Amino acid sequence: MDLGLFFGRFHPLVVHLPIGFLLLAALFEGASRLKQFNQLKAAVSWTLLLGAISAIVSVIFGLLIAGDRGYDDDVLSLHKWFGISVVVLSAGLWLIEIGILKVSSKIIGGIFIVLILFLSLTGHLGGTLTHGEGYLVEHAPGFIKKIAGASGKKLAPLDKVPGNPDSVVVFTDMIMPILETKCMPCHSETQAKGGLVLTTYETLMEGGDGNATISPGKPLSSELFRRITLPVSHQKFMPLKEQPLAFTEVSLIAWWIEEGAKADSRLSQSEIPDHLSELLMRDHKIDVTPKPYYEQATAPELNQEKNQLIESMTAFNIRKLSAKNNFLDVSVSQDVKKLTGQEVEQLLQLKDHITWLDLKDKLDDPSSLESISELSHLTRLNLAGNPIADDHVAALSDLKYLESLNLVATSITDVGLESLSQIASLKRLYVWQTDVSRDAANELMKNKGIEVVVGYQLAIENN
Ligand code: HEC
Repeated sequence: MDLGLFFGRFHPLVVHLPIGFLLLAALFEGASRLKQFNQLKAAVSWTLLLGAISAIVSVIFGLLIAGDRGYDDDVLSLHKWFGISVVVLSAGLWLIEIGILKVSSKIIGGIFIVLILFLSLTGHLGGTLTHGEGYLVEHAPGFIKKIAGASGKKLAPLDKVPGNPDSVVVFTDMIMPILETKCMPCHSETQAKGGLVLTTYETLMEGGDGNATISPGKPLSSELFRRITLPVSHQKFMPLKEQPLAFTEVSLIAWWIEEGAKADSRLSQSEIPDHLSELLMRDHKIDVTPKPYYEQATAPELNQEKNQLIESMTAFNIRKLSAKNNFLDVSVSQDVKKLTGQEVEQLLQLKDHITWLDLKDKLDDPSSLESISELSHLTRLNLAGNPIADDHVAALSDLKYLESLNLVATSITDVGLESLSQIASLKRLYVWQTDVSRDAANELMKNKGIEVVVGYQLAIENN
């Protein structure tokens, strides 16, 4: 229990009394100078006395609450001195009114004007302390805000993140802007509440007076994370007096700490969990999904010689993946029933370019997979419906960019699956209408994060 704070918290309530009394006193004083209201003069000294007494009580309560955490020091000090001046001026005016001090009536009018001015300033500064800067015109029409110099809606910190995730440094571009907007008012070199300065990576890691501000790898033992995730009503909740951090911001900070709280890790190098990338997209239109291989790499130019070659390869449909690069999407012409070994060999001449290859139902001889495994830039390969068994697919493990492999309706089993799990880049594997077991598929999904599509049929068979 803290009696000082207990009474101090009544300060915002009590301050309305001196404001009311002193305004009334000024009104009476002004009106009493008109002939028809001159009997009001008698009330001025009483109203002033009530005003001065309630001003003194307000100042005392104010001083009790001033020790409470987190007020802006400069504004607080101004508010305090203007408040004290109000006490002095109103008490002085009262002494004048009851005749103890003697001054001319012109000067009395002047003092009243100064009193009302100081009273308004004290009130306004008090409002700024509790509600923050610009609260007065927060809901005002635009033109009034402009006159008052209040800035418009603040840009959310993460909305300034550069568009290309490759160039985003997680700490500088994403964590820092959050701290800057939400924490810096109280945690800079000049304020340093709790001994904590959040203006640079070094001072953040140095921490404040208390527990480790950041424990790399462990959000839950990091004081900073604890403070932003406490219940909002908790004494220690941060940011004090500001809007709580958004869920996306909290998730981002948690992930950054979990990943080691590094100063220079880049967004693209980091494995962002799905829920976070969805949040970043939803709230800030930051797209962190990895770019496909053909957008990251560059294929050599398709010169005239190669273009002629493409023309001559009539067994295939060959098209450029996009106008901007020289990677190729290759499928087999409609009127070709089965490819000969020679025709498959032809593909090797374009091995630096082919990244998608669709050979569905067109292979006769499974040993062609040896040649196909030399197409080292393949990212998508469709071998569905071909006579392929476990020992043939081993060759495919040389394909180090392969992301999607379709082996639907082949003779592949759990054994073949095992050798395919060696392809580190593999993301999706289609194996319905094969002898792959559900358990082996689940295993692969769990251990390697490969999405294995076993399909509807198998699900029924296994049940
Ligand atoms: C309005 C002022 C204010 C704002 C804004 C603010 N803080 Fe604080 N902060 C304080 C005060 C005062 C203390 C010291 C009292 C305490 O420990 O609660 C403090 C203490 C802390 C501490 C404990 C330091 C230590 O080692 O003891 C951490 C961590 C902290 N703040 C983090 C933050 C974060 C993160 C933000 C922004 C999301 C933030 N604060 C925003 C006023 C503020």
